[in-house]
Amino acid sequence: MKKIIIAIDGFSSCGKSTMAKDLAKAIGYIYIDSGAMYRAVTLYCINNNLFNPDQSVKENELKAQINNIHITFQIDLSSGNPHTYLNGTDIENQIRSLEVSSHVSTVAALGFVREAMVKQQQQLGINKGIVMDGRDIGTTVFPNAELKIFVTASAEIRAQRRYDELKAKGENISLQDIISNIEQRDQIDKTRAVSPLRKAEDAILLDNSHMSISEQKEWLLTQYHLHTHA
Ligand code: CDP
Repeated sequence: MKKIIIAIDGFSSCGKSTMAKDLAKAIGYIYIDSGAMYRAVTLYCINNNLFNPDQSVKENELKAQINNIHITFQIDLSSGNPHTYLNGTDIENQIRSLEVSSHVSTVAALGFVREAMVKQQQQLGINKGIVMDGRDIGTTVFPNAELKIFVTASAEIRAQRRYDELKAKGENISLQDIISNIEQRDQIDKTRAVSPLRKAEDAILLDNSHMSISEQKEWLLTQYHLHTHA
């Protein structure tokens, strides 16, 4: 069967990665979480003291070091899910913290960071057979992707999902902090100058506010079959 590129974009915490990961497993495609790459650059900045006291990025220093940042993915044998590596170290858990979440959209708004990440993402898709999720996959990274989905859900539901996820991992945070973080990131993502978050004209809109994980998996599989059997 012909291999295609599947681009899944949308707002933060609306379950994009769960659906993208499930679909990739079901159809034997590679799954790439592009957000994890921006999160990895953010962790690099935190670890290397690249934030100013006002939380802006020390741009010249990051620019000088951007080619030292090597991000790779490897399947974790115990969970079967891909883990993100920064310069050879597994950072999958660290990049999901609220500290990284609260800085990531500032880092992801920088043009030279996006340029470096988009280049790597396009390289990963060169043989197709890939599901990638993010904010600009259908618009900038793979404008010719055969199947594009734009996911959204109400802000309260997204915050509750992220709260449950972080609670399950033992992070002690308030729902209010998560709501503020989600609103702040959405705002930065929508209004940045380079590749702002928006639905590609040819993307299919999915509001999954009232869908279970298995319902959305089913829905996505149907879309995949429609696009590969056409
Ligand atoms: O998991 P969640 O949807 O909350 O976020 P993520 O996919 O891990 O992405 C984290 C942040 O990276 C987003 O809020 C964006 O600021 C940025 N991002 C981006 O700019 N472009 C992408 N293709 C993916 C993520």
